[in-house]
Amino acid sequence: MNFDLPGFDSIVVAWAALAVPVFIYSLVGTDHVGRTGGNPPGPRVAARWGWVVMELPALLVLPAVYVSADNRNLVADLLVAAWVIHYAHRTLVWPWIVPRYSRPMPVATCASGFVFNVVNGLLIGWFLGYAAGYPREWLLDGRFIAGAAAFLMGAALNVTSDYRLAHMRRQQQGRYLVPRGGAFRFLSSPNLTGEMVEWIGFALMAWSLPALAFALWTAANLIPRALWRHRWYRRTFPDYPCSRRALIPGVL
Ligand SMILES: NC(=O)c1ccc[n+]([C@@H]2O[C@H](COP(=O)([O-])OP(=O)(O)OC[C@H]3O[C@@H](n4cnc5c(N)ncnc54)[C@H](OP(=O)(O)O)[C@@H]3O)[C@@H](O)[C@H]2O)c1
Repeated sequence: MNFDLPGFDSIVVAWAALAVPVFIYSLVGTDHVGRTGGNPPGPRVAARWGWVVMELPALLVLPAVYVSADNRNLVADLLVAAWVIHYAHRTLVWPWIVPRYSRPMPVATCASGFVFNVVNGLLIGWFLGYAAGYPREWLLDGRFIAGAAAFLMGAALNVTSDYRLAHMRRQQQGRYLVPRGGAFRFLSSPNLTGEMVEWIGFALMAWSLPALAFALWTAANLIPRALWRHRWYRRTFPDYPCSRRALIPGVL
């Protein structure tokens, strides 16, 4: 199968541009997820199952589109593998690590995350399958190497911080505490900073509009969330370490 998608770049640019109002709306609005969330009306689903349903399209759609293009090459294979490893963990492992005490997720959040993952999976999968055609030399390009390093460092920061939080919460039987140790010495939500670094790295490795759009969307989702979390810590714990930052150690 081989097809051209007319206006593909315009579709991706429009999708990326949509992240801007979402970012601004989130910056001035309230969080709907987890402990810092307000109390949005509407039905909710157990956090674990919310994560599984929301992330499943990311795990399935991108590799399905890529494989169906029948146009594999080594670089694209590596990019798809990086994506699948991240989302296999996020969809099949992480939901069972999320403590049972976590606040139920609004169904609207789960549904919007589902759509978000379908769109990104389609766009990046289509690009890798139908449009990319990377030469092997791309593996030695500075952008690919720097991106791979950022992807791996971001993933390590994300996963170790997520697990530290989950472990702490389990030990405290669901109570909220000030996390200590690891990158929490410098940041309130190193898991979120790690996720952003990871997808910036992926965008560098892929050097493509859809991967850049995904990195922008991730930042639009997670920068406001990191700021909410930071403010919540400061409000909730009077002795919260004042040297910790929301997003970038020592800076912001
Ligand atoms: N790519 C994207 O656009 C995107 C979007 C969203 C999330 N994510 C990723 O999904 C993962 C989870 O995101 P998140 O926003 O839910 O992370 P989070 O706010 O750090 O929460 C993670 C888990 O730890 C618990 N927790 C957090 N801080 C705690 C504390 N001080 N004391 C006790 N328990 C605490 C939370 O409980 P509560 O739920 O009860 O607060 C939740 O179960 C992260 O790795 C994030 O990067 C990615």
